[in-house]
Amino acid sequence: MTIGDPTSISTADSPTRPKDTGLKTIGIIGSGIMGSGLAEVAAGAGFEVILRSRRQDSADSMLSSLQKSIDRHVTKERMTQVQADALAARVTTCTELADLAGCDLVIESVVEDLEVKKGIFAELDGILGPDAIIATNTSTLPVVEMAMATNRPDKVCGIHFFNPAPVMSLVEIISPLTASEETVATACAFITACGKDVVQVKDRAGFIVNALLFPYLNNAARMLELGTASAQDIDTAMQGGCNFPMGPLALLDLVGLDTSVAILDALHTEFGDPNYVAVPSLRRRVAAGHLGRKSGRGFYVYGR
Ligand SMILES: NC(=O)c1ccc[n+]([C@@H]2O[C@H](COP(=O)([O-])OP(=O)(O)OC[C@H]3O[C@@H](n4cnc5c(N)ncnc54)[C@H](O)[C@@H]3O)[C@@H](O)[C@H]2O)c1
Repeated sequence: MTIGDPTSISTADSPTRPKDTGLKTIGIIGSGIMGSGLAEVAAGAGFEVILRSRRQDSADSMLSSLQKSIDRHVTKERMTQVQADALAARVTTCTELADLAGCDLVIESVVEDLEVKKGIFAELDGILGPDAIIATNTSTLPVVEMAMATNRPDKVCGIHFFNPAPVMSLVEIISPLTASEETVATACAFITACGKDVVQVKDRAGFIVNALLFPYLNNAARMLELGTASAQDIDTAMQGGCNFPMGPLALLDLVGLDTSVAILDALHTEFGDPNYVAVPSLRRRVAAGHLGRKSGRGFYVYGR
């Protein structure tokens, strides 16, 4: 995973609906690590974006991190000030799900908890117009269960971005058994309009990337637990020895240790593979509130 300069930034500077998607307004639910990145990607492609956070102060801080990110693009001459202002103007915030009523596509990106997500899908179903698509940014959870919490299971799919969303080029589109071909095609067209690469995958825990990645990350945490090497040496070894852009423990901190444990739990529930059993030290860190970069401390300590 490359963390650094985006290889391509969409710089649509008019509010024209991106062609061929049939979508104009995108709703994004959740003000965590992923929320403002998703907003930046969609607004950068020319879509109108409404970000929903439960609290106004979280919505405000999402807008300010979005603004900082856009300002960096201007400083680094990846975007003109006019393009940056147009992008920012396409993003608004709200605190009520009802304010997403006019959206054509809503992407849910809240905590990795199936019951919470199902509740949001059921509520959204009663709010959105009949043609609107509801997607989840879940890393592992069964998309079909969210689909069946609605009366429009044919219009539900997974749209799984990677972190940080504006930087990472890949998006997995997940098709639950219930999704129509039209829904999946629209989701793929949306991602293409956002300038990202699409892979399509069936609704299985972890999809492609996380199903393969998480045993490795978990085993890195186990290696630290066993005292085989220091965190820094484990990360340095995998960067230098495998040419990975970041080490596994730094990557766990980036993803969030609570999210990582939730991902491992979902993978273990589905496949029963012992490599997916989260090592004790991961759970203990979460219990201590050491969640990684987002809390200022995980395997490493970060400046706030
Ligand atoms: N962190 C990553 O690297 C990454 C990458 C891709 C996808 N995802 C997925 O994106 C989603 C969000 O992850 P994140 O990393 O942004 O998480 P996060 O912990 O940073 O944020 C979680 C958000 O969920 C909100 N939330 C918690 N409980 C809620 C509830 N009951 N109702 C509504 N909102 C609630 C929180 O307020 C917070 O805004 C998860 O499904 C995760 O698996 C995460």
